[in-house]
Amino acid sequence: MSLLLSSVVVVASLFSGAAAINNGLAITPPMGWNNWNAFGCDVSENLLLTTSTQISSLGLREVGYDYVVLDDCWQDPKGRDKHGKLQPDLAKFPNGLKPISDQLHSQNFKFGMYSSAGEMTCARFEGSLDHEVDDANSFADFGVDMLKYDSCYHMGRVGTPSVSFNRFKTMSDALKATGKNILLNLCNWGEDLVHTWGMSISNSWRITGDIYDSFSRPDDLCACNTLEPGAVNCVAPGTHCSVLFILNKVAPFADRSIPGGWSDLDMLEVGQGGMTDEEYKAHFALWAALKSPLFLGNDLRDMPASALTIINNPAIIALSQDPHGRSVTRVRRDTEGIAKDEWGMGETHVWAGHLQNGDEAVILLNAGGEDIEMSVRLAEIFIPYGPGGSAPHVKYDWAIHDLWAHRMPQETAEALLAAKEVEDRVDILKKANWYNATELPYAKGLAKEDARLFGEKIGIAEAGGVLKADVKSHAARVFRLRRVKKEGDNFNAKSIARKGEERDEL
Ligand code: GAL
Repeated sequence: MSLLLSSVVVVASLFSGAAAINNGLAITPPMGWNNWNAFGCDVSENLLLTTSTQISSLGLREVGYDYVVLDDCWQDPKGRDKHGKLQPDLAKFPNGLKPISDQLHSQNFKFGMYSSAGEMTCARFEGSLDHEVDDANSFADFGVDMLKYDSCYHMGRVGTPSVSFNRFKTMSDALKATGKNILLNLCNWGEDLVHTWGMSISNSWRITGDIYDSFSRPDDLCACNTLEPGAVNCVAPGTHCSVLFILNKVAPFADRSIPGGWSDLDMLEVGQGGMTDEEYKAHFALWAALKSPLFLGNDLRDMPASALTIINNPAIIALSQDPHGRSVTRVRRDTEGIAKDEWGMGETHVWAGHLQNGDEAVILLNAGGEDIEMSVRLAEIFIPYGPGGSAPHVKYDWAIHDLWAHRMPQETAEALLAAKEVEDRVDILKKANWYNATELPYAKGLAKEDARLFGEKIGIAEAGGVLKADVKSHAARVFRLRRVKKEGDNFNAKSIARKGEERDEL
């Protein structure tokens, strides 16, 4: 009997879609907030706790943002203590770190912290290289649930995948040895082909230098800026990487993300002020559909209502948290005949990907300088299931759902932000019938066809036909295509799963 049971367990875990690290974490992309983009080194207990309270009362935890992450610069500038242990800067964290993690846990958040696989962190505090066991134990003692692990000052231990792999694996093993299940987010900016090995030892891995608050502006500080699409192994540390640059960097290996291990496109810039509303919508939707971890990067205590209505859109977040756990991939990129923008950039993309219930996510991105009508044939959208129009999907009509259609009204978001009392905020969210993923997880909401996750039906793309939409300059249209069932329908999602995704259908 027990033998039978254990073989059932083994079979179940083989087919559960678990990632190679297999720590059971980040089965869908992690979501939360990280201080770095808005605050850099200006960190403190007060910042973390006032932010977590704000995430909670604005209903953002309820749509999925449940990690609060303290980035670089938390350490004592004097270095390690006499036992070789990392110490927090008591001017910033007068009570130490454990009370912060306790407080976050009591609010149902998870606590993330930061170190570097180098002799120093990027801001030149103590790094964890050759101190992995000590530091992993400190993180466990602080009550940490996630470690962002950077790559500055690596002492030359870089240059081949195995050298980088081993350097990061030491921390992965040390975290495991603490007996606490700690999510590991690698941050080596795409070096040494991390997208080919990151999933073996971590739950996510950064693929570029740091994002900055610009949609398409190239900048010398973003190393590999002249990257030709398809060139993946570019030495990458740097900053000032635009949204468009990051999209082009991830495109050739967008399919590498799997449940438990995700390509990290870097923290979000929504709400920071450097992009237009349409640019932020495009940035957010693509990060969601590409299955990047979704870490808000703005000051949530001082945020325009328009930013709140982007980051709290459950129909978009449902793309990120879809149980199928596969990224959209780029099925088309055009540069010919596309008007250039103010930075001399001009291109359009079509991204598409399978969702658990058989729907297809489709994003039309216009990164050119003029508003245009974009069109794409169903045969192209469904290319991953068979080229040349051979995918069975092409023979069906598809209802087109616009996933931005039910964005929270501006007035509701303004009222929410203006409300001083938590109860008033709770009331406003209730009246708006806003999605609550702690009550109804996305997988369940999707299975129950909760209307709040499906946007608005705006038309039909007919069998064998074309999907067309007006797309403003520097904007994206984000659709969920829903197959219109036919009489005597024998469409079999199982038999037509994309190559390499079959096991998710089992
Ligand atoms: C960079 C990293 C950033 C931030 C910073 C802290 O290397 O990419 O996201 O963590 O270090 O110094």
